[in-house]
Amino acid sequence: MALDAQTFSPLRLSRPDLLREQAFVAGAWVDGQARIAVRNPADGSIIAHVPNLGTAETVRAVDAAVAAQAVWAKEAGKVRGAALSRWAALMHAHAEDLARLMTAEQGKPLYEARGEVAYAASFLEWFAGEARRINGELLMPHAADRRLLVRKEPVGVVAAVTPWNFPQAMITRKAGPAIAAGCAMVLKPSELTPLSALALALLADEAGLPAGLFSVVTGDAVPIGDVLTTDKRVRKFTFTGSTRVGKLLAARCMDTVKRVSLELGGNAPFIVFDDADIDAAVEGAMASKFRNAGQTCVCANRLLVQSGIYDSFAAKLAERVRGLVVGPGLDGPTEQGPLIDERAVAKALSHVADATTRGGRVLAGGAPVGEVGTFFAPTVIADVPADALLCHEETFAPVAGLVRFESEDEAITLANDTDAGLAAYVFTRDIDRSWRVPEALQYGMVGLNTGLISTEVAPFGGVKESGMGREGSHHGMDDYLQLKLVCQAIGAA
Ligand code: SIN
Repeated sequence: MALDAQTFSPLRLSRPDLLREQAFVAGAWVDGQARIAVRNPADGSIIAHVPNLGTAETVRAVDAAVAAQAVWAKEAGKVRGAALSRWAALMHAHAEDLARLMTAEQGKPLYEARGEVAYAASFLEWFAGEARRINGELLMPHAADRRLLVRKEPVGVVAAVTPWNFPQAMITRKAGPAIAAGCAMVLKPSELTPLSALALALLADEAGLPAGLFSVVTGDAVPIGDVLTTDKRVRKFTFTGSTRVGKLLAARCMDTVKRVSLELGGNAPFIVFDDADIDAAVEGAMASKFRNAGQTCVCANRLLVQSGIYDSFAAKLAERVRGLVVGPGLDGPTEQGPLIDERAVAKALSHVADATTRGGRVLAGGAPVGEVGTFFAPTVIADVPADALLCHEETFAPVAGLVRFESEDEAITLANDTDAGLAAYVFTRDIDRSWRVPEALQYGMVGLNTGLISTEVAPFGGVKESGMGREGSHHGMDDYLQLKLVCQAIGAA
């Protein structure tokens, strides 16, 4: 795989105005004095610049959100849902441009980016429906002269901080329920992938979302994050990103007792039992481990494989992995794009080095590829001991470490030996085990005989230090709604 003489496809957008170099604050496109370069990780070239905004613009976005939310909260659910449906329709209409923008700034192969655009739009569609079903309760009262009404009301202004690995879906998975519930949102996207967020803002505006309801503030995390976590008018804070940063931001939100939802890091075990369909398990591992070049929170992080099928599974996986096409995401046959930056490459290398120092055998890949960009060869390492870094830190790279186990109990103990609790995967054809093991795993989501678990209709989220709250599904509305009791005394006739 020699990638040193690359020719990168140009962006070629049908609607060039979807590439925005201004932020969208309080219903207007704004410039900043300083600018941030947005780079293509495939070759380091600059795609565009966005404003490096700070405190003043973030406060302005919150001011506008407060005003817009007060009006939006009074709209009927079906009006709010219709706006989300129009937004989703515009995403579909411009899907190819959105995908190309995403690949250019994030690196994932174009077919994955197209998939993410559809996945992102699905959250808007799903929550457009949920907007009609925000039903309260009339409770059986505690006394004959009382009536108890429980209303579900929007929490108010929501601040969202979203990551670079899914530059569109992580936005709509938050904005969809927020807007359906009657909230307004101020979004700070990752400074690595702001172009997707700004394109979504343009389409939201064209879909008729009122000015101020959805602002996108681009720039450095610290000044923007300071406002979003401390301004008392922001009533909810939602974050997807690293566990370390999530804990810091959540702690800051407590001074003003904001509602907080966190989607944080994982350390997913991918458990393959002797009784599994090996070919299906290999395909599951390919999907789980190598989607987005291993840069997803739900990625298989350690592959726990039972000794009876260990060698055969390892050989088949290594063969599949060696066949993956690595290259710039905008190029046709690419299956593995670049990693997001040099730090990601350094982390992958350190995990490989640690595993091999401890006796791991590299069966495929194991090193960066090419002279330009941040490409890392899809990697399989066998005989990784359970105390290796690969088993304890989120690798966030296309590096699959295989750990051998003997018994079901041992697999469960290894799988649960982590502070993370986002996703886990189990491959077995034993019907009893297919109940026992998912029930014993301390995780928010378990894939049983599948490596893909994400959909708008199911609750996404973790336990332990992987976060709190759920996104997607009808449960995804709960984080944006608060209950109000109206207790009424009624007189006799
Ligand atoms: C994530 O990695 O945070 C999201 C992955 C997904 O939605 O499938």
